[in-house]
Amino acid sequence: MCGIVGILKSNSLKNEAIDILKKLEYRGYDSAGISLFEKNRIRTIKSIGKISELEKKSKKFSDKNFTGIIGHTRWATHGIVNRNNAHPFSDENLTLVCNGIIENYLKIQNRYIDIPSHIQSDTEVSFYFLSYLLNKYKNPDEAIKTFLKTIKGNYAFVIFIKKNNSFYLLKNGSPISLSHKNKSFYVCSDSSILSNYHNKIYHLKDGDIVKINNGNIKKLNNNSKISFEDNSVSQNPYDKGKFQHYMLKEIHEQPKVLKDTQLIYGSEFFIDFKAKFENLFNVDKLVLVGCGTAYHACMIGEYYFNKFTNLDVSSELASELRYKNISNNNKTLYIFISQSGETMDTLMALKYIKKYKHRSIIITNSLQSSMVREADVTIPTYAQKEVGVASTKAFTCQILSLANLSLEVGKMNKVISHIDYKKNIKILNLLPVKLKNLIKDFTPIAKYLAKKISLVNSCYFIGRNISYPIALEGSLKLKEISYMHSEGFPGGEMKHGPIALIDKDTMTVCINPNNELYEKSLSNAQEISARNGKTIILTSAKRTKKAGTEMKVPNLPKENFIDTPFIYSIPLQLISYYFALNEGTDIDQPRNLAKSVTVE
Ligand code: M6R
Repeated sequence: MCGIVGILKSNSLKNEAIDILKKLEYRGYDSAGISLFEKNRIRTIKSIGKISELEKKSKKFSDKNFTGIIGHTRWATHGIVNRNNAHPFSDENLTLVCNGIIENYLKIQNRYIDIPSHIQSDTEVSFYFLSYLLNKYKNPDEAIKTFLKTIKGNYAFVIFIKKNNSFYLLKNGSPISLSHKNKSFYVCSDSSILSNYHNKIYHLKDGDIVKINNGNIKKLNNNSKISFEDNSVSQNPYDKGKFQHYMLKEIHEQPKVLKDTQLIYGSEFFIDFKAKFENLFNVDKLVLVGCGTAYHACMIGEYYFNKFTNLDVSSELASELRYKNISNNNKTLYIFISQSGETMDTLMALKYIKKYKHRSIIITNSLQSSMVREADVTIPTYAQKEVGVASTKAFTCQILSLANLSLEVGKMNKVISHIDYKKNIKILNLLPVKLKNLIKDFTPIAKYLAKKISLVNSCYFIGRNISYPIALEGSLKLKEISYMHSEGFPGGEMKHGPIALIDKDTMTVCINPNNELYEKSLSNAQEISARNGKTIILTSAKRTKKAGTEMKVPNLPKENFIDTPFIYSIPLQLISYYFALNEGTDIDQPRNLAKSVTVE
């Protein structure tokens, strides 16, 4: 994981690098560092914690004397969080930063006696190894090539060598992009950030070694030309506006981004769906793959495809899929879901199924991501940049994509009638207005429920059918931003074990839409109340039977099957947000997490 940046020639390179690192904090914020290139020396500054600490430490350096800079924000994998393990690793001739993991670092460490044995960090081992190679080979290019041949893993490196005043970029697996204008160069592990600087961009490919020297740029791994593509400037997503946190801003943005998404799908994207996708969906099996919140979107998609199509559909956790044997006898279509398009587990699962020649779709919010480059077809989510670590608007846009996709497939395969198709599309078109009112009306209720949750030690979420993944997502949201112990269960499973957890210090949130399972789920809540557990019942049903310690919550808007996940997930996002706010946690950057998990 981690975020990396590099700049050559700019009037304000230190401030710009710090600014970019702040935007990269979503990739980890355990420690940070920069190396500044002076005429005759490399100056390195490191700090523990967020970029604001590094900013304070680097205040005394003006930009004047420097020709270049590299920087890093770390999410610790190998080696504890301390100043020494922070990147960049540097000496008088070499400085480097890395995003990723060097899997054979122990082998390298044991083989070369010049590498101290106490080192814990795979990148520090790589630093010593490259330093050794630079002493061995007169030509730094040869040292770099040997370095790349020896190291194994998924990584992106930015390296500066003083001896030949050259900047090297290396990539395998982890993303890194380069933009430039005249002699000024910017490098970053998130290409969307580069659009603020230059609008011509090159995404490095696996195996690339790009060398920049005195304004000239060339590839060392082959003679292919570096062709820069357009990367036009987007709006500033880092402005919180009137909101205290990105998460709250992004919760409130949902009606708008869902409207944009639905408009685009209706007007251009799904027109001629048959011509575009018929072949792709002519399969024996459909598998939806993702991690965390994206996996919950997959589970919701599974219910949609199960209802609207006749495809054999299942969901898989990306981190597990690649260790399973998969058959290449049957025709399977894999749909990957990822906000960032960079989650390493999902990327690896995508590469894994490609080996078996299965077709793939990526549903993502990041059109320039690694997964887009790997998948056969990309379906964008149009949620716009999501900055808060807890996924909210990207999640609901993923669900909207899956809802539309399943309806289109159902219509194409004649499983649903044209009338049913139209009816469901109409529900999706009306969703933004419904959700806008819901956010407004539910906010005071969420604040009230958040206070009630603070009276218990654990919080459980239960639901049946499509409400089951909604319950899982509600639980994930609460635990990741508030650190409250929380679990999600299928309502019917409580009596098979989890009900043993229930006592007066627990709260159970029952996701109970007014459908054919309403009575059954209500019974599950009553079984919990009967054991002194506190309950909150979220429902649109007009009259709920009073169940022991049940909390009275005003009715949610009337739902249909297809809009249930939206109508019930947004209240859960709000409850988690206001609970975490009361707890005083770091809502946008909760402890131990990162926005984009680019390690396995
Ligand atoms: O970028 P991705 O959608 O692939 O990320 C997957 C998960 O890491 C992500 O959803 C994570 O669970 C979030 N913190 C949830 O809020």
